[in-house]
Amino acid sequence: MARRKIIVGNWKMNLNAQQASLLVHRLHERIRIHREIEVVLAPSLLHLQPMSLQIDRRKFRLAAQNAYFKDEGAFTGEVSMPMLSGLVHYVIVGHSERRLIFGESLDTVRQKVAAAFRSGIVPIVCVGETQSERLAGETNQVLHDQVSTALSDLTAEEVGQIVIAYEPVWAIGSGSPATADQANMAARSIRHQIKELYGASTAETARIIYGGSSNSENARAFLDASDIDGLLPGKASLNYHEFSGMVQAAYRSLHGLEVC
Ligand code: PGA
Repeated sequence: MARRKIIVGNWKMNLNAQQASLLVHRLHERIRIHREIEVVLAPSLLHLQPMSLQIDRRKFRLAAQNAYFKDEGAFTGEVSMPMLSGLVHYVIVGHSERRLIFGESLDTVRQKVAAAFRSGIVPIVCVGETQSERLAGETNQVLHDQVSTALSDLTAEEVGQIVIAYEPVWAIGSGSPATADQANMAARSIRHQIKELYGASTAETARIIYGGSSNSENARAFLDASDIDGLLPGKASLNYHEFSGMVQAAYRSLHGLEVC
């Protein structure tokens, strides 16, 4: 069975309520209902509730950018997975900004991934090497460690539903994306690892996407690559021309249409 393409807009800590609502409105005008493409928006936590009322659910799904791994309790300032249950389909876990700025460890990421599934939310797990790790030839080892710990509490069935985002740290926000070949090689190595750990059929259904300075211009090259099932744009997701262009690129890639 073909893996469904997925385009996830990570808005990060941008847009106030009015700007968020306007962007959703613009995206509604430009994006059609696509059965074979999942279009996911990850606004600030604050905007999830109003956006859940504003969006056409046939067009868009919602993702949280982060959540805590405990279900409830004395954790001032945190939001739990059960609180998000029913509101979002996905939660981004282990984004490099969370790992590097907020000190999230491999173990924290593992616990968040498990907590997401407990609440019926599918995690989009971000992995990726830094520039110095790449230069030292450690890319595959870093990806291996990040993937194996993140998935270690899961059943094969859960791993089969997961989305893993390969996001090289050096490509994020830099304007210099990985090449489609580099991204596809990393995606293939992650898929191979899943196959070794959870079997071939699980590796066939898990989706692996690319993030890091992706935009409407370079989207097609990534989307045509054999092991890449979608994109996780940050900056480009804040611009409705760019983001809808990326959804369009996914449609054209799926249908073998020329780049427009
Ligand atoms: P970028 O961000 O597209 O702005 O590089 C991607 C991400 O951090 O998910």
